[in-house]
Amino acid sequence: MAVLGRVLMVTLLFCAGFLPALSVDRSNFKTCDQSSFCRRQRKLEPGSSPYKALLGSAKVSEDKLEVQLIDDKNEASLLLEVFGLNGNMTRIKINEINPLKPRYEVPDVLVGTPLPENLHVTGQDENTLELTFRGVEHKLLLTGTPFRMDILSGRDLVLSVNSRGLLHFERLRERKSNLSAKVSMAFVNLWHRVKNLFSSDPEKIDKPLEGDVYPGEEAGKEEGSKKEEEDDEPGMWDETFKGHTDTKPYGPSSVGLDFSLPGFEHVYGIPEHADNMRLRTTESTDPYRLYNLDVFQYELYNTMALYGSVPLLLAHNIHRTLGIFWLNAAETWVDISSNTAGKTLLGKMLQYMQGGGDTPQTDVRWMSESGIIDVFLLLGPSPSDVFRQYASLTGTQSLPPYFSLGYHQCRWNYNDEEDVHNVDSGFDKHNLPYDVIWLDIEHADGKRYFTWDPHKFPTPKNMLSRLKDKRRKMVAIVDPHIKIDGGYRIHNEIRSHGFYVKNKDGGDYEGWCWPGSAAYPDFTNPEMRAWWSSMFSYDQYEGSMDNLFIWNDMNEPSVFNGPEVTMHKDAVHWRGWEHRDVHNLYGFYVQRATAEGLIQRSGGKERPFVLTRAFFAGSQRYGAVWTGDNAAEWDHLKISIPMCLSLALVGISFCGADVGGFFKNPEPELLVRWYQAGAYQPFFRAHAHLDTPRREPWLHGEENLELIREALQQRYALLPFWYTLFYRALREGEPVMRPLWVEFPSDVSTFAMDDQYMLGSALLVHPVTEANSRGVHIYLPGAGEVWYDAHSYQKYEASQSFYFPVTSNSIPVYQRGGSIIPRKNRLRRSSDCMPDDPYTLYVALNLQGEAWGQLYLDDGHSFNYEQNEFLYREVSFQHGELSSRSLDPRGIFETPSWVERVIIIGATKPSSITISIPGGTTKALEFEYDFNRSVITVRKPGVNIASDFTMSVR
Ligand code: GLC
Repeated sequence: MAVLGRVLMVTLLFCAGFLPALSVDRSNFKTCDQSSFCRRQRKLEPGSSPYKALLGSAKVSEDKLEVQLIDDKNEASLLLEVFGLNGNMTRIKINEINPLKPRYEVPDVLVGTPLPENLHVTGQDENTLELTFRGVEHKLLLTGTPFRMDILSGRDLVLSVNSRGLLHFERLRERKSNLSAKVSMAFVNLWHRVKNLFSSDPEKIDKPLEGDVYPGEEAGKEEGSKKEEEDDEPGMWDETFKGHTDTKPYGPSSVGLDFSLPGFEHVYGIPEHADNMRLRTTESTDPYRLYNLDVFQYELYNTMALYGSVPLLLAHNIHRTLGIFWLNAAETWVDISSNTAGKTLLGKMLQYMQGGGDTPQTDVRWMSESGIIDVFLLLGPSPSDVFRQYASLTGTQSLPPYFSLGYHQCRWNYNDEEDVHNVDSGFDKHNLPYDVIWLDIEHADGKRYFTWDPHKFPTPKNMLSRLKDKRRKMVAIVDPHIKIDGGYRIHNEIRSHGFYVKNKDGGDYEGWCWPGSAAYPDFTNPEMRAWWSSMFSYDQYEGSMDNLFIWNDMNEPSVFNGPEVTMHKDAVHWRGWEHRDVHNLYGFYVQRATAEGLIQRSGGKERPFVLTRAFFAGSQRYGAVWTGDNAAEWDHLKISIPMCLSLALVGISFCGADVGGFFKNPEPELLVRWYQAGAYQPFFRAHAHLDTPRREPWLHGEENLELIREALQQRYALLPFWYTLFYRALREGEPVMRPLWVEFPSDVSTFAMDDQYMLGSALLVHPVTEANSRGVHIYLPGAGEVWYDAHSYQKYEASQSFYFPVTSNSIPVYQRGGSIIPRKNRLRRSSDCMPDDPYTLYVALNLQGEAWGQLYLDDGHSFNYEQNEFLYREVSFQHGELSSRSLDPRGIFETPSWVERVIIIGATKPSSITISIPGGTTKALEFEYDFNRSVITVRKPGVNIASDFTMSVR
């Protein structure tokens, strides 16, 4: 209700033409102090660990080490397991030896059982064990008292575990209270109060006396458990926030551990936060929070939780990149501290020179509300090693259908079939390419997903067919909250199968969302997911066709009247797990079940497209993610870059932000700049709130229309390049959009840069994100390299920083010398009209006169590439010859596409250019040479893109 109230309020303000600066209502969301386990854990100060590892208990088998951990205070017995994993990774698990009930271990996120490496004890003294892993370049030192672990590479200390002594493990225990004990304690308290009443000391009146029991605290302590009971504090056995009580039937269950990273000053990852790419230290703020939440009007530059969570943190310095993957789906907080934070570069240098300084070090502390400690240390050493390691655990980005890399036109809402038709025709009329038009929640009959409003969308198949005739698609929203309505088939079926999440008392959990009263299917249940998937078949989802794809929103899950706008933590899922345990996984499962549904409806043939708002580690396997409800403000445009970079670093490459901003109205300049930036981000969709005025590209005057057309055209021309990058993401786990430091790992000046980024290793993009901008400061990294302005071909020697003056049509993009990029330059209605179009190859020479590039292609929509129906080719330029060869001879795919032009940038004037194909004749080619720009344009090489060829440039 509160949310609806706010929506109404915003609506009124919009209608009144008054646009306030948007800001989140922070009081809806917990701070660390208001989240009792975070408060408890944060109170623990670094120091000597109360835990010791009983080295005498160590058991070494082929693939793991097991040791018991004992807590000094209460003899708590935990089991530590250490695994050496294939590919330079270590896994550490800590769990109770005999928990009262099993603790949750995250399923379905890992793509398989990680392959262990043999390990051996290669050294030992009374307080240390040295472990060596076969085939792995590091050693692990396990110290008994106090318990810690250190990972060494050669003689270098790479990472320490529990070196600050913050291992914390709340063992499950019975609550000792019982009714009779409570009653008798109440009597005792009453007696104290009566005594007080007659006391002559007014200070004591109405105050609890020493020994009084407070509400919510333990009563009836039994011998033997005294210590624990004394340790109890408010919030352990129940916790109330804004009128919502979390009953915590299993009591405190949190876990925490610290990691020290000597030599590292830059850490990244752990999305989703509306913050810079480089993580800040959290000594004077709340820790970064990972708890999937529907945050209305989120604010920028803070550590608050947002819609999705990936508990992977990366650290990078000039020698090494590493990752810490904390596999836990409960509410999690991450504290970051550093011994160099706040010091200037000069200050740090002085410190080193005077010998007074420590090595820079970053410390990271993870705290989760439940589950076990299950952490993977990804030891690199290079950025691409870390990406590969993480991909080996959680999978890679699924290969998007080609159309989904085109432009998407969305708003809340396109009102009816006629509206859809008009908007669709608008693109043709104004000669703008686009691939997909979207329908938001108003398309369904009373927000009953899988249905169509009978008045506004009476003939969905006709509408879809018309789009199909134009080779375009549609995406419709299907949210996971289900209207409670006895006349709604989907609801009745889910209820009759018993597939809804239950409340703590065993009834179906009910909450309030877009349709009003709603229930929430339990997506953690595989049977429920299978049923959900089956709902996408053409006979179940009436009115759907094969060019209809799906958008999953509100899957944090959003519960308007729930605590922190989400589900109660004591709600109960499949097999009795609490929502507390699985919260951050809910959205992951929703997208998974939907994607599987789309695959199944095609008999397993077609690739799905599903957009999700909530996500977890592994979500990359199921589709695209967007950054939720941003605003039409310049800062929101700017933050879209670091937000997507952070996602890319943790495996989720298919990311985008609402172009134009969701809330508020962008002025035309902001809208145009957003199109220009969005054209160079992986998922490219314009979207707008229900109450904003219409903003299709042609509504802002001729000049702006032309600018938007130009941005769209640049996007479409580069689709072959984007598709190739996504193929590499699929195969290698490489991020598509990536921070500069990934390509230039020893250039410290790039480590915190997030206003410019790379696409693959070839293009550097620096979008204009300021109002009235006259120029941007560009940094081109890579000493000894050259770059070329992608539009003017102007050459720049690297590394250098310079001021680049911009006009309204500037999109600063630079092609790296040494790269080759394929483009398709014919402007078309949609990407599906382009497969047979010819290619232009842009060959940007490095200082040695060489260049390389790849091209991947397949049918763009099916899984046939898995049966080797694809082409993966490399084009290279060396010794004056451009040649093309297959990079994967297994792949065979026929295409009529030919090479219509080759542009060689940074070249001297040739006297002749010839082309030959194996077994064929050699023919001379026409070309032009532009002296001013040192560019050769070779016309009509005419060769098929699938064939080997050699072009000699002499
Ligand atoms: C949420 C989504 C937004 C969508 C709206 C209505 O706010 O984030 O994109 O338009 O719900 O479905």
